[in-house]
Amino acid sequence: MAEAFLKVQDLARRYPGGKRGDAVFTVFEQVNFSIRKGEFVCMIGHSGCGKTTILNVLAGLDRASDGVCIMDGREIAGPSLDRGVIFQNHSLLPWHSALKNVTFAVAARHRDWNRRQVLEHSQKYLERVGLRGSEARRPAQLSGGMRQRVGIARAFAIEPKLLLMDEPFGALDALTRGNIQEELIRIWSKTHQTVFMITHDVDEAILLADRILLMTNGPEARIAESVVVDLPRPRDRTQIIHLPAYYAIRNHLIEFLVRRSKDFLRHPPAGFDPRNPPTVQPGLETAVFTAPGPSSPRAHRSAP
Ligand SMILES: Nc1ncnc2c1ncn2[C@@H]1O[C@H](COP(=O)(O)OP(=O)(O)OP(=O)(O)O)[C@@H](O)[C@H]1O
Ligand SMILES: [Mg+2]
Repeated sequence: MAEAFLKVQDLARRYPGGKRGDAVFTVFEQVNFSIRKGEFVCMIGHSGCGKTTILNVLAGLDRASDGVCIMDGREIAGPSLDRGVIFQNHSLLPWHSALKNVTFAVAARHRDWNRRQVLEHSQKYLERVGLRGSEARRPAQLSGGMRQRVGIARAFAIEPKLLLMDEPFGALDALTRGNIQEELIRIWSKTHQTVFMITHDVDEAILLADRILLMTNGPEARIAESVVVDLPRPRDRTQIIHLPAYYAIRNHLIEFLVRRSKDFLRHPPAGFDPRNPPTVQPGLETAVFTAPGPSSPRAHRSAP
């Protein structure tokens, strides 16, 4: 197994004062996972379980109460241009044009590039997200979806070692969303960047990810499973839906979100260790749909 590029160890986030008068409110704890170089990993879980908090810690914008994140052999201690972030809302600089929002980041990333190089590189990425002709507009003059696409272009244009995305397509209409997902696959298959992405959309996760991390409901959320998406690439949304494995994975995710995520920690599968959540390959087992609790031993392998 290849060495982990990103390693998250025993991450926890606590706030003082719980709802029932407890001394602390624990959003999540014992969160452990790793991502290999070039791997595309999605995280799914109900609202409030701490996904954005984890992403912000990985971005270096927030500190965990416990635990460490190590990227490329170094502990993450603050923001870096090695990590590009696409937030839940676009977070553009409102006084700059779409183009300037991108060139600003590209120039910071490549201090040795001349203006022309920065401009051409930025324009290329704006074009890739379908914003040719809108470069001069400021965020207030763009639609919500267009603003989000500027944020996507900016994050990709700096070609970070780790791309962090927090529901990047949530605000887009279905058609634009589909186009941008395809563009994301195209860019990613060329650059082989390592990606950590949060989404609520199970179909999106299956289309994009190599693995999907499932979070239990909070408070005191944990990672319940790491689900392998073993579908051939390149993936085409109209093709993969014909694969039996697609539905095995989809049903597994929905079953988790609808039923298992709530009670998972009260009735964990036998031998469950949150520090080493099981890796599951839906389709190789059937027990999970017929009996609550532990699924067949074949379904669980030790984590990478
Ligand atoms: N200052 C704070 N004090 C107490 N609790 C907080 C504070 N800030 C955030 N939280 C809690 O942290 C939890 C995790 O928030 P986070 O934004 O990471 O969730 P999320 O999984 O990204 O949710 P969503 O899917 O809605 O985006 C929430 O339950 C929130 O109430
Ligand atoms: Mg969030």
